[in-house]
Amino acid sequence: MLTDAPITETLLPVYSTFPLRAVAGHGSWLVDDAGQEWLDAYGGHAVASSGHSHPDVVAAIADQAAKLIFYSTAVPHAGRERLADTLVRLSPPPLNRVFFCNSGAEANENQLNLARRKTGRSTVVTMRGGWHGRTAATLACTDGERYEAGARRAGVPLSRKVTFNDIAELEGAMDDSVAAVLLEPVQGFSGARTATTEFLQAARALCDRHGARLLFDEVQCGVGRTGSFTAAEHFGVIPDAIAMAKGLAAGLPIGAVVAAPSLVDDIRVGDLGSTFGGGPVPCAAALANIAVIEREGLLNNVREVSAQLVSGARALPHVVEVHGRGFLLGLELDRPAAEVQRALWDHRVLTGTSTDPRTLRLLPALSFAADEANLLLDALRAVLR
Ligand SMILES: Cc1ncc(COP(=O)(O)O)c(C=O)c1O
Repeated sequence: MLTDAPITETLLPVYSTFPLRAVAGHGSWLVDDAGQEWLDAYGGHAVASSGHSHPDVVAAIADQAAKLIFYSTAVPHAGRERLADTLVRLSPPPLNRVFFCNSGAEANENQLNLARRKTGRSTVVTMRGGWHGRTAATLACTDGERYEAGARRAGVPLSRKVTFNDIAELEGAMDDSVAAVLLEPVQGFSGARTATTEFLQAARALCDRHGARLLFDEVQCGVGRTGSFTAAEHFGVIPDAIAMAKGLAAGLPIGAVVAAPSLVDDIRVGDLGSTFGGGPVPCAAALANIAVIEREGLLNNVREVSAQLVSGARALPHVVEVHGRGFLLGLELDRPAAEVQRALWDHRVLTGTSTDPRTLRLLPALSFAADEANLLLDALRAVLR
């Protein structure tokens, strides 16, 4: 349970909030207005990939802002081009074409649009437990009555939902009206539930058999969070496109679709667009963020510290199972996760919950260090007595 107290009545009361006002951040730490430090195992909702306000990212933003804050895509910009090349270098072949937008929902919206455009079909198959955003098209693909209701009100047909990792059910949902299968290789909101490699391989084969496109939503699990830059690479299954956002620019809004040429080979001027997409400042932040991830060996850090967290968490009382990969972990408990999340506040530790009321979600910065993992495990041990 987060606090629901409105801070000002001018803001719509749509967000539950943590019990602090942050005035600063560094690495995996937030500093509140009383000068107290909070250990952030929530990573600003999987956004602070190189940590909060990494000096290199701050410098890149300041430098680019001083030179040119913004010009639209009517003017070519080296940072946008370099970032596209970098994402292609870090994505599995043949994914080598990039479109920039501003958020995770937008990235999914655009990859759905590309799949529908290419196939001339409209039906989409998605997973139970999947979460894809709050535009009308992505609400239609997100699991949960309150989300689907929004799509229904907008007159957008709902996706066909199948049980995650159930190959037979997926097979039953596929026919020649399906434009795309959209899924998170590691589901975030549902509590860090991981796809099996067999399921992803079957999804690939079924899409190929029916002429549909396979789309990965890596908005939460991508950009290094599973310990490889893309989750696709981790599973060895290559989709037709990947949506990225959250951790890409360590806090500035950006979204990207990285697509196979076969999905976009007939794209022409005006087919897609976004005023702010790929703006100079978010691109500078993303380039600096990725440079930090590479230079500081953060993918390796994710793999090592994740193993420490998983084995440490498995040894705790009241932990039934640890789900997920890398730094997208779900601690399934024998008690309400919201109570544990709240109890951790007394230790000034931030974690996330999920749609499974008994799963506590951990999504720290990719730089979350071994000693910080120990602090988190100590706090969990104190709370789970
Ligand atoms: C897997 C996934 N897809 C899409 C989104 C939507 O991203 P945004 O809030 O940037 O639109 C989220 C946000 O939490 C997400 O976790």
